[in-house]
Amino acid sequence: MSVKQELLATIADLVQPGKGILAADESAPTIAKRFKAVGVESTEATRREYRSIIFSTPKLGTHVSGVILYEETLEQLSLDDVAIPKLLASQGIVPGIKVDQGKGPLVHSPGDEITYGLDGLGTRLEHYKSMGARFAKWRDVFHISDTLPSFQAIKSNAEVLARYAAVCQSMGIVPIVEPEVLIDGNHSIERAAEVSEDVLLEVFKALHRHRVDLETMVLKPSMVTPGKEAGKASPEQVAEATLSVFRRVVPAAVPGIFFLSGGQTPEESTENLNALNSMGFHPWELSFSYGRALQEPAQKAWAGKLDNADKAQAAMKKRARLNGLARSGSYSP
Ligand code: 13P
Repeated sequence: MSVKQELLATIADLVQPGKGILAADESAPTIAKRFKAVGVESTEATRREYRSIIFSTPKLGTHVSGVILYEETLEQLSLDDVAIPKLLASQGIVPGIKVDQGKGPLVHSPGDEITYGLDGLGTRLEHYKSMGARFAKWRDVFHISDTLPSFQAIKSNAEVLARYAAVCQSMGIVPIVEPEVLIDGNHSIERAAEVSEDVLLEVFKALHRHRVDLETMVLKPSMVTPGKEAGKASPEQVAEATLSVFRRVVPAAVPGIFFLSGGQTPEESTENLNALNSMGFHPWELSFSYGRALQEPAQKAWAGKLDNADKAQAAMKKRARLNGLARSGSYSP
């Protein structure tokens, strides 16, 4: 199979009707925060137990086409001693891997951040691919204020995102391109729209500059919403604001836009996705690549006890099924 055929086959598997992606790639500090919220200490053993339970959810593959893993999980065995990528593949789910190495301050641009991880990326991808990963994820973050993000931050982050995507594709790995415009703050939905448009425009310019094949990538953006402290917009307002920005700056060649949940509640993120898919014609598949919004109820149900595995799997199945319905605008609360 040529590299292009390999990429197209992975895209066909990921972008299927009624399905989306489960983002279970929380880094060690992030999963520790999520576990703490449900009274569980994060250790190698608890992470293995929890992730093994949710990935073994019966028929998870009906609504989940891909799972993004963290490096540790890619190398772990399930509770039944099956390699995690193999377990996922047996569910008809494509294993993916988070490859950025976190973020830190962007020098001379106070308040902005830049994502790390380009050095040695090719070598790491080779290893991940040998372990079964067929797609990757890289996350940039953009803070919103009256003055942030700076043009410098937008441009530099777009550049690294595009370089990552180009390396992935050269190795037959589908890149998920994730420019996250953060929900934190008290900005208006109009300000979020303005920043999202600026960011996405620069991201697609950089992707073009680096000759990234738009047909074999997935975009993972934030929905356009008001800041968390500014109150809520209705699902119709979110869908309208999001689609008007995306129509301007996301080329129709991109096969799938898989939104992150970014701090929306599980119910909100399903309602918003449903509204997006109910709003007339759009040239891309609009789906989910949720972390918190898919997993919060399952983590609560598990609460660190193996005896709760059935309850955790039922909670996971429920959110996956409802988001699967929202994929075609067929969800009703
Ligand atoms: P959330 O849906 O919790 O935002 O996580 C998605 C993700 O992968 C962030 O990088």
